[in-house]
Amino acid sequence: QQYAIGVDIGGTNTKYGIVNHRGDITHNGRMSTSQYLTAESFVEALFTALRPAIEEVGVEHIKGIGIGAPNANYFTGSIEHAPNLNWKGIVPFAGLISEKFGLPCTITNDANAAALGEMMYGAAKGMKDFIVMTLGTGVGSGIVTGGQLIYGHDGFAGELGHTIIRPGGRQHWSTGLYGSLEAYASATGIVLTAKEMLAETDQDSLLRRYPAEALDSKAIYECAMEGDEIAKEVYRFTGQILGESLANFVMFSSPEAIVLFGGVTKAGDLIMNPVREHMEKNLLAVFRNKVTLTFSELKEADAAILGASALVWSIRKQGNL
Ligand code: BGC
Ligand code: NA
Repeated sequence: QQYAIGVDIGGTNTKYGIVNHRGDITHNGRMSTSQYLTAESFVEALFTALRPAIEEVGVEHIKGIGIGAPNANYFTGSIEHAPNLNWKGIVPFAGLISEKFGLPCTITNDANAAALGEMMYGAAKGMKDFIVMTLGTGVGSGIVTGGQLIYGHDGFAGELGHTIIRPGGRQHWSTGLYGSLEAYASATGIVLTAKEMLAETDQDSLLRRYPAEALDSKAIYECAMEGDEIAKEVYRFTGQILGESLANFVMFSSPEAIVLFGGVTKAGDLIMNPVREHMEKNLLAVFRNKVTLTFSELKEADAAILGASALVWSIRKQGNL
């Protein structure tokens, strides 16, 4: 029996698993990403976390490590200028991993890994044209057309989270861009929206009970579920922005489905209803009521772990997996 290690690196947390050929995850776990200030210390901690599982399976049965990470480049194996990671500049990440683990390593963008996982095992099974949007600390996307992930000339294609959807709008905390989707629709962006809304009015709100540092997207979601008007408005506004953006993306690549993935989707209908409404409203008639809008079917983050592990089975020289 051969195994692959799949790792999904997010801005806040990292999830990993050991996966067999059928896509069963035999060992899994999670650790912090944001606590590590350098890529080297992170790699060290990942190795320590995975070592017991690797020993249990037997390193000789492990074919390699596949990793999905923000701003990762499948062509070069490096992570470059990731806005939501502590490791700045160009980090030769696949090299660091294979040196530490003594195993071959392939990396790709985290949202691309999620798209591969959804295509092989999840909500996009059998589809040739779809987009996965990952909504977490950052906003990422994996665009599949004609059954192939789009990598583009440099390997970074599909950074839809950084497209400008409110020209002149809120400045992104790290990229410096004004009005990008991630500045609004990420967990980070949702908190900024709530803070802005609270500052604009004296209206009473459950959100005011939280000290600024404790106000996270989960707290906002819980307040919205308790009927808090400002918290509900935060999700309505976020859903509108995301829906308008999805309309643009649909008209760009004409997908059969858009699969939403990641922490922010836990808000369910609260975010889905405005997303659907504003997506349809902003579509050209030829696209309207044709695109399935859905959540990841796989347990949270499994799609990205599975997609990352799939890189190990089918390592190819050139781009398209
Ligand atoms: C990064 C993307 C990543 C996304 C989700 C963005 O900030 O630029 O590469 O896919 O966050 O993690
Ligand atoms: Na991508």
